[in-house]
Amino acid sequence: MGKIRVLSEDIANKIAAGEVVERPSSAVKELVENSIDAASKKISVVTQHGGKYKIIVIDNGTGMDYDDVLLAFERHSTSKIKTIEDLHQINTLGFRGEALPSIASVSHFILESRIVEEDTGARIIISGGKIRKIERIACPHGTRIEISNLFFNIPARKKFLKSAAYESSLITNIMTNYSLAYPEIHFYLEEIPKIKQDYPPVSSIEERIFQIYGQTAVDQSIPLSIEQANIKMYGRIGFPHFLKPNRNSIHFFVNKRYVRDRLLMGAFLDSYKPFLKKDAFPFIIAFIDLPPDLLDVNVHPTKTEIRFYNPNWLYNVIKDSINEALGAFKPVSIFPLNVSSMPSSYPQNNTPIMPVGQQDSMPEYPPNIPQSLYITSKHQEEQPGDSLLASPIHILAQYKNCYILASDNDGILIIDQHVAHERILYEQYKKLLEHQHISIQHLLLPLPIEVTPSQKILITEHKNYLNQLGFILENFGGNTFLLKGIPSFIRNVELSEMIIAIIDDLQNTVRKNNIETLLEDMIASVSCRAAIKINTQLNKEKMQYLVEALLETSMPQYCPHGRPIIMKITDHQINKTFKRTPA
Ligand SMILES: Nc1ncnc2c1ncn2[C@@H]1O[C@H](COP(=O)(O)OP(=O)(O)OP(=O)(O)O)[C@@H](O)[C@H]1O
Ligand SMILES: [Mg+2]
Repeated sequence: MGKIRVLSEDIANKIAAGEVVERPSSAVKELVENSIDAASKKISVVTQHGGKYKIIVIDNGTGMDYDDVLLAFERHSTSKIKTIEDLHQINTLGFRGEALPSIASVSHFILESRIVEEDTGARIIISGGKIRKIERIACPHGTRIEISNLFFNIPARKKFLKSAAYESSLITNIMTNYSLAYPEIHFYLEEIPKIKQDYPPVSSIEERIFQIYGQTAVDQSIPLSIEQANIKMYGRIGFPHFLKPNRNSIHFFVNKRYVRDRLLMGAFLDSYKPFLKKDAFPFIIAFIDLPPDLLDVNVHPTKTEIRFYNPNWLYNVIKDSINEALGAFKPVSIFPLNVSSMPSSYPQNNTPIMPVGQQDSMPEYPPNIPQSLYITSKHQEEQPGDSLLASPIHILAQYKNCYILASDNDGILIIDQHVAHERILYEQYKKLLEHQHISIQHLLLPLPIEVTPSQKILITEHKNYLNQLGFILENFGGNTFLLKGIPSFIRNVELSEMIIAIIDDLQNTVRKNNIETLLEDMIASVSCRAAIKINTQLNKEKMQYLVEALLETSMPQYCPHGRPIIMKITDHQINKTFKRTPA
C-alpha cells in the first residue's frame, strides 16, 4: 500500500491557520476585513489580554443567513469570487475563503449573524474546528464573532506569543490602518477595560488623520493628489522635517488594502532621501488605486503582500510624483512660487518698500544667550539650506514691514521676517533646553493673568513643565495667576497676550493627547509667540542679524510649523522674464 494519504479537513485547516493566523492581530485583521467586505458602518473590536484570552468583533453589516453561517466554515467557501477570472478583478479584501475555518480550527469560536431581511439569526459554536452547536437565535442584524483562548490546541504557537501589551499594540496598528483606509466607517477598539480607539465616521481622510494623530499631523503634511495614466494616488505626506523615529507612521494602501511593500517603501523613501537624517522616517499615508488586473494580491495567505505586473514603471511614476510634491521644499523655491502655500493672513496694507537704515522698533539682538550655545558650526551633513549658504547675502530693503529683501550671487531673496525669527528662536530655545541652560528673567512687577477654569487646571497640572520651559506662574487665588518670570530671550512682546496664546497652544496639544510631541510643540509655540511680528520695521543691522542667524539654522527653508521662510528668484529667471541674455 502506498504511503501518500489525504489529510483530514481538520489537519488541513490547522495548517492553513498556521499561515493565516499567526497571532491575535492576524485574527483581528481577517475579521475586520470580513466586516468591511460586508459593508458595515460600525466595527467594534474588544480584546482581552492582547487578544490572547478573547477577541470580540461586532459589525452591523449584511450578516449571513443560517445556511451561509454553516457554509462559511467549510474551507474555500467564499461569497466573494466565483471563477478564476474573478481572481484578476478582486474588489474585496477577502477572496480565499479560508480565514473563518482557519481561525475556528485553533480557538473556541462563536459566531452569531442575522441578515436584515430575516427576523431570526443563527449562532454557531465551534471548538478546535469541530462544530458543537448550531441554532436559530434572536440577535441584531450584522455579525458578532467571539474567539476565546486562541491556539489552545497548538501550545507551540501559543508559547510564541509575546506580552499582552505587545499583542495589543499590534491590534491597535491593524485598527489604525483600516481606520485610515475607511474614514466613513466608525471604528471602535477596546482592550478591556480601556477604550483605545473610538473614531466615529468622518467624510475625509484629513479628518480621520486628525482623529488618530491630532492636528499636528494635519498641519505638518500636504495632500497627495496625483492622477496619472491609470494610477490614482491620494492621502497625505508629511513635510520633510516632520520626522518620526520609526516606520510606524508610514502606511500604504493599494486599492484600499493595507500592504507592506518594498517597492512602495523604496519609491517614497528615495524621494525623501535629501531630507532624511539617520533613523528618521517621514509621515506618509498613501493610497494607490490601480486597475485590479495590474496587480496580484494572491501572493501570500495574509494578503498583505502584492505583486505589481509592471514594477519599474510604477516605481518611476511614484517617485517622480512625490519628488514633484516635495519640490517646494527643495533648497531653492521655484519661481513663480505656489501662492496658495503662502499664509492667507498676510497684511494687505500698502506700506512701500522701506529703505535700509530707517528706525524700527525691534528688540535688541542678538538676545542674551551665552555665546557657546549659539548654533555656530555649519552642519556636516548636507542640509536643505546649504545652497543658500554658498554666497554672501546683502540686505537690500524691507518690504511692507514684513519681508526682508536681499540678494546673493545669483538672485533675489524674499525672507519672511516673522517665520525666519521663529525658526531662529526655535533652534536656540531647543539648544538651551537640551543644555538645561534656560536663564529666567524675573519680572519686577508680577503680571496678573486671568485664565478660564479649565486653563487653571491645565496650568496647575503642568506647572513644573512650564517652569522647565522658563515660565514662572503662581496661583493668586481664583482664576488668576501671577507671571513672575519668563525665559530671558523673550523681549518686547505683549506678555499677557503671549502667555494666553501659549496656554491655548498647550491646551490644544494636551487635548489631542500628543504627549510625545508636547515639548516640541511648546518650543514651537513659544518661539512663534516670541518672534518679531509682521508689520514691524527693522533696521539694516537687525535684518542682517536675522538673515545670518537664519542661515546658521538647520532648516532655513521653513519654520517649525512648516511654513516657507525664503523665496528665491534667480538671476536666470529674471533674465528669462526680461528676455535678456546674462551679462
Ligand atoms: N462579518 C461578516 N459579515 C457577513 N458575511 C461574512 C462575515 N464574515 C464572513 N462572512 C462570509 O463568510 C465567508 C467566509 O469568510 P472568510 O473570511 O473565511 O473568507 P473570505 O473573506 O471570503 O476570504 P479570505 O479567506 O480571503 O478572508 C465570506 O466570503 C462571507 O460571505
Ligand atoms: Mg475573509
